[in-house]
Amino acid sequence: MGPNSSSIFHLPFSIRKRIGVFDSGLGGLTVVRSIRERLPGAEILYLADTVHAPYGEKSHETIRRYSLEIARFFIEEQGSDALVVACNTATSAAIATLRECYPELPIVGTEPGIKPALHTTKTGKIGVMATPATLAGEKYQALVDRLCGIREVELLEQPCPGLAERIERGEIDAPGTQAMLEEWLVPMRRAGVDTIVLGCTHYPLAAETIRQVMEAPVTLIETGEAIARRLATLLGEQPAEEPGNVRIFATGPIDEAAVERIVGERVVIEPLTF
Ligand code: DGL
Repeated sequence: MGPNSSSIFHLPFSIRKRIGVFDSGLGGLTVVRSIRERLPGAEILYLADTVHAPYGEKSHETIRRYSLEIARFFIEEQGSDALVVACNTATSAAIATLRECYPELPIVGTEPGIKPALHTTKTGKIGVMATPATLAGEKYQALVDRLCGIREVELLEQPCPGLAERIERGEIDAPGTQAMLEEWLVPMRRAGVDTIVLGCTHYPLAAETIRQVMEAPVTLIETGEAIARRLATLLGEQPAEEPGNVRIFATGPIDEAAVERIVGERVVIEPLTF
């Protein structure tokens, strides 16, 4: 191979990392979108655990069991080099156990973006939308205790039971969803909330509806980009001459058209039984 051959500049294939990403359903694909923008060369395996969805109203113990099974699949069967828990609820319930079981593996979790919200709000009133399991978790409380000394703010925490399920079923603009959002968001609007933390990876898929219901301008805080940045720090840049593959597994039914819309390309959903 001559010195002018362009392939001499290519990184060896083995540098391309295989990243296992999971959530209860479509929500974690909002994180996949950010990972692909930041690390286009990485290979991504995504698992939507739709047969067990929603996670947000289950016990931490149950969610931990599902998460461990998924981690085992990614790491032991698929040889993943890193794991992304693209779900606030599963992070709250299982990330400590996952790190104990796989101490050598880079594992990135998802937490509500309270810190960026503290830097964004002008009114000092921040809304936090998340699943009941996330808001009830010790991890969330520890995050708030750690950060809220930075600046005096008022957090209006809103558990949103049923919202992830409705998003999963493509009912974002259905009257029932609108009514739910009005019940939760009108008090935030009246209180002067100017920043809302989307503490569930499904909620960015309903961002437009949330904005409409809020009426006044509001900043919505998502965490996909921060996760992708953290992953890039842990794994290093990925060879980007050719985009990495995305494979999608689902443990139950999933809206294929929605998957393609979020991922931005045609994908084959691979069914999986646990
Ligand atoms: N997308 C998940 C989260 O970030 C959970 C949705 C659910 O299954 O309740 O919390």
